[in-house]
Amino acid sequence: MRFHIMTLFPQVFKGYLSESIIKRAVEKKKVEIYLYNIRDFSKNKHKKVDDYPFGGGAGMVMTPQPIYDTYRHIVEKFDIKNPKVIYLTPKGKVYNQELAQNFSTDKDIILLCGHYEGVDQRIIDLIVTDEISIGDYVLTGGELPALILVDSISRLIPGVLGQEESFMEESFKDNLLEYPHYTRPREFMKQKVPDVLLSGNHKKIDEWRRQQSIEITLKRRPDLIKNANITDKDKKYIEK
Ligand code: ADE
Repeated sequence: MRFHIMTLFPQVFKGYLSESIIKRAVEKKKVEIYLYNIRDFSKNKHKKVDDYPFGGGAGMVMTPQPIYDTYRHIVEKFDIKNPKVIYLTPKGKVYNQELAQNFSTDKDIILLCGHYEGVDQRIIDLIVTDEISIGDYVLTGGELPALILVDSISRLIPGVLGQEESFMEESFKDNLLEYPHYTRPREFMKQKVPDVLLSGNHKKIDEWRRQQSIEITLKRRPDLIKNANITDKDKKYIEK
């Protein structure tokens, strides 16, 4: 999987991408990450990348030429057919685990990070295939959202997580939130680990975890339950 990130602030990515699991994924050649500074492609003599909006109003708009030329450069260099271009914007479809799964099967993903009031609409019309928001709040730019996509997609690529990490139960598996975890010590600040987890009875432990998952999902994210695989056996936790 190759990520191509178009940004005005490539430095933002360098620290994160050179640490921990993502760093290891790059070293193992499971993912390749290429950063492109949109400003380098500006044909303006002052390397300008934004301008005032037609029709007036506050803020600046990213001009189409440098973005389009960055895009052409990527597509030609890597000979990408039908490029997937994701534009990070609060106007986009709200990101979730299912979208991450879908994106994880692409060979190349081009991420476009906006700034200021966003990019000229013609860029969206000409090259963008998906507009994605990471949630209902507004950030100063698309860099953090792009990192979130890179991280959440990379960990789904076979071989990126170690065996143990990838077999881990996790939130959003089956559209349920994850059950609580405990480790040593058995008692901390007078708070005890639930007895069932110390019982050695794995059937009971699985049942307890399932119940916890369902209860926490009902409480915090009732919207998820309708798409969860609720079995007849689970119903007793719901009707409680
Ligand atoms: N850019 C600014 N805010 C954003 C958001 N919530 N999601 C994606 N891109 C953004």
